[in-house]
Amino acid sequence: MSNQESRSSAADESAGQVNSQWIASQWIAGQINSQWIARRAVESLQQRVTAIAAELTDALARETALRREKEELLQRQDTLTQEFEHRLVNSLQLIVSLLSLQSRKTDSPEAAAQLSMAAKRVGAFGRVHRRLHLLDHLDTVELRQYVGHLCEDLTDMLFDGNPAHLVVVEGAKIEVPTRLGIPLGFIVNELITNAAKHANGEITVRLETTPDLGHCLSVSNDGPVLPNDFDPGGKAGLGLKIIQALVRGINGRLQVGPGRGQQGASFKVFFPSTA
Ligand SMILES: Nc1ncnc2c1ncn2[C@@H]1O[C@H](COP(=O)(O)OP(=O)(O)O)[C@@H](O)[C@H]1O
Ligand SMILES: [Mg+2]
Repeated sequence: MSNQESRSSAADESAGQVNSQWIASQWIAGQINSQWIARRAVESLQQRVTAIAAELTDALARETALRREKEELLQRQDTLTQEFEHRLVNSLQLIVSLLSLQSRKTDSPEAAAQLSMAAKRVGAFGRVHRRLHLLDHLDTVELRQYVGHLCEDLTDMLFDGNPAHLVVVEGAKIEVPTRLGIPLGFIVNELITNAAKHANGEITVRLETTPDLGHCLSVSNDGPVLPNDFDPGGKAGLGLKIIQALVRGINGRLQVGPGRGQQGASFKVFFPSTA
């Protein structure tokens, strides 16, 4: 190799080194730049996360405050309802006392009996309200428990502890809208009063849900068989007229027939669950 040739190859080598150093420095600069961009991205992400966390904390605090407010309002509503029911039951009790007093004061035995019956019916409304209110949760009431309590009240009142007139409540547990509780409670009251008055032996209250006819509440008793031509819509007394009006009010249907073993009587009230 001539001197000239060896000088030019050294120059090429040094130019190559400068070039690769320049590439290396560019690569390093690129790395630094992308690290800086990544750090900025992380910082801005952290800022957003902090902002979102603050928003969430605020929202949670607002939700807690709203929930507390809602609980307070519900509690207040409950207290007001209790207070209202309490006053209603007291007022009904006052009317019962007035009617009973008037019944004792009248000279006509017929008027006295009517007034005493009216006092008993107002008293029944009081019991229905009291029992319903104790069980009413979230606008529905469990019928078997409710009817069971009403029957305990009626047994104490009508039979004065005489076990000859046992009242048995049986059948399915049925949850119904609370607004059905008042008419159904009053119907039970009238039917059991009738069974106690016109029949004897055990009285059975049964609750069922039939696939095609909806719910069914029946009151059956042993004792005298109802006449074949018994027509509850005929010359019936006030009790059956009230029962029929209440059954119509819940879009129901009253069916009357003989009781167990073709003995006694059975009054069945069919009613839709959404009546
Ligand atoms: N469970 C029953 N067993 C036998 N007869 C009954 C029964 N329920 C009702 N009755 C008959 O139906 C009639 C009408 O009943 P109701 O309208 O409640 O009037 P009241 O009970 O005042 O007589 C009764 O007088 C009675 O003859
Ligand atoms: Mg009657």
